[in-house]
Amino acid sequence: MRLDKLLSNMGYGTRKDIKKFAKDGLIVVDGKIVKDSSQHVETEEQQVEFDGEIVRYREFVYLMLNKPQGVISATEDLVERTVIDLLDQEYIPFEVFPVGRLDKDTEGLLILSNDGKMAHELLSPRKHVPKTYYADVEGIVTSEDVLAFSKGVQLDDGYTTLPAHLVILQSGELSKIELTIHEGKFHQVKRMFQAVGKKVKYLKRIKMGNLSLDPALSLGEYRELREEEISLLKMVE
Ligand code: URA
Repeated sequence: MRLDKLLSNMGYGTRKDIKKFAKDGLIVVDGKIVKDSSQHVETEEQQVEFDGEIVRYREFVYLMLNKPQGVISATEDLVERTVIDLLDQEYIPFEVFPVGRLDKDTEGLLILSNDGKMAHELLSPRKHVPKTYYADVEGIVTSEDVLAFSKGVQLDDGYTTLPAHLVILQSGELSKIELTIHEGKFHQVKRMFQAVGKKVKYLKRIKMGNLSLDPALSLGEYRELREEEISLLKMVE
């Protein structure tokens, strides 16, 4: 790739800026100052430094965010804060987007990436990628609900969901549950409980496909996925 393209992709400035930075001697490739920014570099093999800092180039970025309440799963919005607003400046040039959506008041696992193919595979309705949620539910969740969910329940718009796996962690006036669904209809978990006369008070996604939320991430924190986690994510039949 051309050096000016690489550096402008990474957010170091326009190609014109990069040309000037090169003339000023700010760009070093494999230990040697490069004055011509149109030079080509092997992104996987050569080391590029800008103003003394190593430039870590990669095409795709994969982030795991523990989404807090109050931010929306979008890349930009005129009014609301978005999940992209939570990211450090260094990730902005990669133009990552949320892979799927969580409601504004839902917390937990949200993947952010610029890998469109991976996102498409994970979100494709034909793939039925499982998503697991933890929820606090107002009302006593019963074994009848477990049975109903295992068969699929009818939502308010008449749609009957695919079979879902409901695990009761604690049943009482406020029940605690885990639910695994294989599709992603609008407000699906909330509407499934509504269908059995109960109300979700708190919702958090804890797993998507084979990837679990890292418990070390506090709300609003994120980190890059490790190689093996990216492979897990891509293991979609
Ligand atoms: N189901 C919901 O109701 N909300 C979410 O954010 C995700 C799944």
